[in-house]
Amino acid sequence: GARPCTVIDLEQHVDERGSLSVVESEWTAGFPIRRVYYLHDPDVGSSRGGHAHRALEQLVIAVHGGFTITVDDGKKQAEYRLDDAGRGLYIGPMVWRNLKDFSPGAVALVLASLHYDEADYYRDYAEFLAAARRLR
Ligand code: TYD
Repeated sequence: GARPCTVIDLEQHVDERGSLSVVESEWTAGFPIRRVYYLHDPDVGSSRGGHAHRALEQLVIAVHGGFTITVDDGKKQAEYRLDDAGRGLYIGPMVWRNLKDFSPGAVALVLASLHYDEADYYRDYAEFLAAARRLR
């Protein structure tokens, strides 16, 4: 589905022991989760991403620390600071994204709808832009 990027409040169970946040495949993210990966031990000055996906949907959660995600659908740009483990950012297909400004020790948990497939990537911005403009 071509849903726009949205912040999703996760189901949370908070008590005096701390907080527990839940993601259930399909229900929370709106897609079946086929792959989980996480970015950790960041070089705080570096940026990641710099690509878009043809079909992949993702839910990104700052499970520790924070970082900034910029998204661009070929028409509109937006920026999100993720620093709350009780929230996630849904990123749909055909969205160019960058991750930057990692706090020391930040961990970005990524829940993905598809297995890793390099053919699903746009790694060239001009190529992405041409394809996105044909779509929208
Ligand atoms: P890359 O796409 O550069 O990561 P990011 O989106 O955070 O900038 O991926 C880094 C390397 O890891 C690259 O060689 C591809 C590989 N990789 C996998 O093999 N499997 C995966 O699930 C992912 C996400 C990346």
